[in-house]
Amino acid sequence: MSRSEANPWLTISAQDYEGHMGPDYADQLRPLRDVFAEVYRTIRPPRLALLGCATGNGLEHVDPALTKTAVAIDIHPEFVAVTRERYGKALGAMLKVRCEDLTSCVLPSGAFDLVHAAIVFEHVEACALVPRIANWVAAGGVCAVVLQVESSGAAGTSLITPSPYGSIAGLKDTMHAVSPEAIATLFEREGMRPRRQWTVPLSGGKRFDVCEYARSL
Ligand SMILES: C[S@@+](CC[C@H](N)C(=O)[O-])C[C@H]1O[C@@H](n2cnc3c(N)ncnc32)[C@H](O)[C@@H]1O
Repeated sequence: MSRSEANPWLTISAQDYEGHMGPDYADQLRPLRDVFAEVYRTIRPPRLALLGCATGNGLEHVDPALTKTAVAIDIHPEFVAVTRERYGKALGAMLKVRCEDLTSCVLPSGAFDLVHAAIVFEHVEACALVPRIANWVAAGGVCAVVLQVESSGAAGTSLITPSPYGSIAGLKDTMHAVSPEAIATLFEREGMRPRRQWTVPLSGGKRFDVCEYARSL
């Protein structure tokens, strides 16, 4: 989806987003932050790209002594402004927060030790985005992907957790489930292999599937 009024994300305020994703409803902010912390601690990336950064969840784990460049990208101007406001001071000039569409933004080739994409493929077509990510990952680098999937036996679970934030319902026509296998196939086509995979149980019959795809040296 291009950056236009048609993108339903642009009608969701940061307050509604965080209310919906917080502990009273979907309760995914903390597990997403924990996943990023685990990936970050393991990879220890000097160069980081955070795709679909929303309001910057997880950036509190970035250590400027270790990471020299962090690029955080989101299509939503208010989310980007919140991210800058919250993390700009602690991280300084090494943090570049960009309001851009992941399907068209220009990033340097082979420039990132870690590209983190959490709950992004549910909103941006994987066939278009995976080859772009593969181009951004450095030799020896990793792309970590977090997908939201239904736990087995939880058929009928709605991809979007019900909440009182009406604007969130606007995502229902564009948010789509993505299978870990489909993402693995796309990365393998780009020469990137899974190096570590795990799941994180969530409330409401869902789980996160986390997989790190590595580019060989
Ligand atoms: C569920 S949130 C991401 C959660 C976040 N990664 C985390 O770990 O907490 C999805 C984000 O993708 C952004 N997004 C959706 N389509 C996009 C696009 N085409 N380009 C850039 N960002 C996009 C939305 O604005 C939203 O902030």
